[in-house]
Amino acid sequence: MKVLVTGGAGYIGSVVVDQLIDAGHAVVVIDNLSQGHRAAVHPEAIFHQGDLANRGWLDETMRIERPAAIMHFASKSLVGESMQHPFLYLGENLRNGLNLLESAVDHGVERFILSSTANLFTCSSFEPITESQPISPGSPYGESKFLLERILYWLDRTEKIRFATLRYFNAAGATTSRGEDHNPETHLIPLVLRVASGQRDGVDIFGDDYSTADGTCVRDYIHVSDLAQAHLLALDHIGSASHTWNLGNGLGFSVREVIRAAQEVTGCEIPARVVGRRPGDVPTLIACSRQIGRDLGWKPRYTDIRSIIETAWSWRNAHPHGYRSDRSESLVSRPPPSARTSRK
Ligand code: UFG
Repeated sequence: MKVLVTGGAGYIGSVVVDQLIDAGHAVVVIDNLSQGHRAAVHPEAIFHQGDLANRGWLDETMRIERPAAIMHFASKSLVGESMQHPFLYLGENLRNGLNLLESAVDHGVERFILSSTANLFTCSSFEPITESQPISPGSPYGESKFLLERILYWLDRTEKIRFATLRYFNAAGATTSRGEDHNPETHLIPLVLRVASGQRDGVDIFGDDYSTADGTCVRDYIHVSDLAQAHLLALDHIGSASHTWNLGNGLGFSVREVIRAAQEVTGCEIPARVVGRRPGDVPTLIACSRQIGRDLGWKPRYTDIRSIIETAWSWRNAHPHGYRSDRSESLVSRPPPSARTSRK
């Protein structure tokens, strides 16, 4: 199947692209490279650099490529930032998503997979969160994803689009060739590993007065390759009906537990100091992923935090400066060439 992947140069998108190509799919990546890396795109993928805000460019790309399915990763995705810049999220994520969906309908695309989020939930219970849990977005970021979920709900009823919304809990870890490299980096595990590798002095713990066992926030960390695998299973499954699935390990680890696990994996001291809470954070987010297990036979391969951190640590050691360690990335940081589409 020909699959168009928005944000295919990003952390999760690039791993999904690798798995799609390994499974024999044809892949078209579109990415504006604001966060993604050209070096992260599989060499067999067709690559178009451009922005979803540009509807004319998007329509032209869709007309040329004629994908059968779309996977939509490209978006602003930081909970904390969305509390400081709500319009960036409620505006940009929504407008770009609408552009993409409208163009998809106009060009007869019938399968659509949306990267959604656990930030739809703010329940304080320690029970794993099921798909039927009441929605209460924790931030403008979560709200922007929820609005896109609702738009898909209506397109399922009014157009030919069938969708899967995959609500990710905390994506983490790396494959041998792809890893987490954001600028600026704000995520816990890559920051902690930067301390271990001597690139930072320490890590801040955002609050230790939450209603959790050690007072720090508890998250469900899911390996990026397990997350990617769910996209391939969903792609095959949504021909006839639309679905919403939660994706996590079903296990929660506190910020302090993550830091401790990283110390064990790396053998390095990781100094941490407690600072104030980060707006938008909720105490606990743990997924119940039984539904996708029942429907698709999906089962995570990485179930403990140490093995997830080990993969991230291996990638970090092989790429101490992220994708900038790769020669190909230094090439794309030069001024963009006039022809911006390439088929490597
Ligand atoms: N944290 C710290 N110090 C840091 C960074 C993070 O204490 O320097 C804490 C956060 O407060 C949070 C936990 O570590 O409690 C995890 O934070 P991340 O920034 O790594 O991830 P988030 O939980 O904020 O968000 C991630 C994705 C979102 C997604 C969410 C789903 O970035 O897109 O998981 O749970 F919505």
